[in-house]
Amino acid sequence: MTAADYSEKIPNNVELHEDRRLQRALESWQPNFMHWWQSMGPTLPTEDVYLRTAVNVGREGWAHFDHVAMREYRWGIFLAERNRERRIAFGQHKDEPVWQQVPGEYRADLQRLIVIQGDTEPASVEQQRNLGATAPSLYDLRNLFQVNVEEGRHLWAMVYLLHAYFGRDGREEAEQLLRRNSGSVESPRILGAFNEETPDWLSFFMFTYFTDRDGKYQLGTLKESAFDPLSRTCEFMLKEESHHMFVGTTGIDRIVERTVQLMVEHDTDDVGPHGAIPLTMIQKYLNFHYSVSLDLFGSEKSTNVANYFTAGLKGRWSEERRTDDHRLTNDSILVDTITADGEIGRTEVAALVGLNTDLRREYISDCQNGINRWNKILETAGMPQRLRLPHVAFNRKVGAFAGIEATPEGELISTEEWQLRKGAWLPTDLDKTHVLSLMRPVYERGKIAGWIAPPRQGINRKPFDYDYVHLS
Ligand SMILES: [Fe+2]
Ligand SMILES: [Fe+2]
Repeated sequence: MTAADYSEKIPNNVELHEDRRLQRALESWQPNFMHWWQSMGPTLPTEDVYLRTAVNVGREGWAHFDHVAMREYRWGIFLAERNRERRIAFGQHKDEPVWQQVPGEYRADLQRLIVIQGDTEPASVEQQRNLGATAPSLYDLRNLFQVNVEEGRHLWAMVYLLHAYFGRDGREEAEQLLRRNSGSVESPRILGAFNEETPDWLSFFMFTYFTDRDGKYQLGTLKESAFDPLSRTCEFMLKEESHHMFVGTTGIDRIVERTVQLMVEHDTDDVGPHGAIPLTMIQKYLNFHYSVSLDLFGSEKSTNVANYFTAGLKGRWSEERRTDDHRLTNDSILVDTITADGEIGRTEVAALVGLNTDLRREYISDCQNGINRWNKILETAGMPQRLRLPHVAFNRKVGAFAGIEATPEGELISTEEWQLRKGAWLPTDLDKTHVLSLMRPVYERGKIAGWIAPPRQGINRKPFDYDYVHLS
């Protein structure tokens, strides 16, 4: 059951050959996917890339590493192993057996949740498609492509669910997932952050740190779903997702490390002229990516999300590890709000209605770990500067603070003041131009660009100077 069947056109561990209709439907979607990959995927021509491919969903050794031509990557369908004892962990159906089919009354909501998740996967590939042209090393280039092919596989994961469980509507939605495009005026991606550009590698690392981490938390809630195939799909996606966040975390580690090195060497904060990214600029990029990622969690209060929880469609982060009654009908939570006297404050709401806030808080405390890690690098080097997460009210377009402006410290300010001061907090055109000016490709084995330190280790115990990518 767990071993992937690679003799099939579509590698899978869901016994696809037993359902000819489904197999044919997916096989007819496959060329559309390939067309999308060729036209919207990575633009840098390559011979082959040292990639990991999922071959098994087990705890140990699920990945196989090899040089493969990217267009021949074996995108497939992998669900975590089924637990036949599994029961619903929360909501009004708590303790009932999980569902192997979609209950009619939840069909529309489940489909919507899957489409929203599915839409983000190809979106990030589109956002990152030109980054290969400016990779700081072959190691980084390989990591970029690894993230790209896996986001492609995540799209497959969601498309499988749509095809297998949602009939004609599902197939139509699967087509739409390839028709919307990141940043497109006529048919943009569904969520705001997935229509932003990822024009440079600082943005890429911030994206994989902050936005892929949002993905981790969203997948975490869907992993709790009473709809078992969705739960098992997300469980396996989470394993792949952790590498994406590793790319972000260590990417920013290495940028901070290099910046600090040059600060010491030249005894200055202004390392721009020395070919690096000043800490103040790193902070601005961080402010941007963190705040747009917070928007992905939706409004502080949401009756939709309350209904999803009660119905068993979407749980909380680590639902099973929580010690409450998992129904939350009598609980409350403090959520961010603009108070009656117009201040940034909090208000008490029913716990069910505040579930977005609950998830966002889990996310925020996870984000803080990265900040601590990067500050450790500063501290070890004897630097007094520190990076930090801006206040939740800063630069928000969704939720309670969408209509106001606030400083990174959380002080309410007027629109005029925001206009005057935002250049100190968010990347300016000048900052972007500087970062872009550093983005020159380094494709020589074992070499690295001057604005980032090399990694401590290579991939899959290979050295840093391994030939991770063969360009064509
Ligand atoms: Fe993903
Ligand atoms: Fe990801």
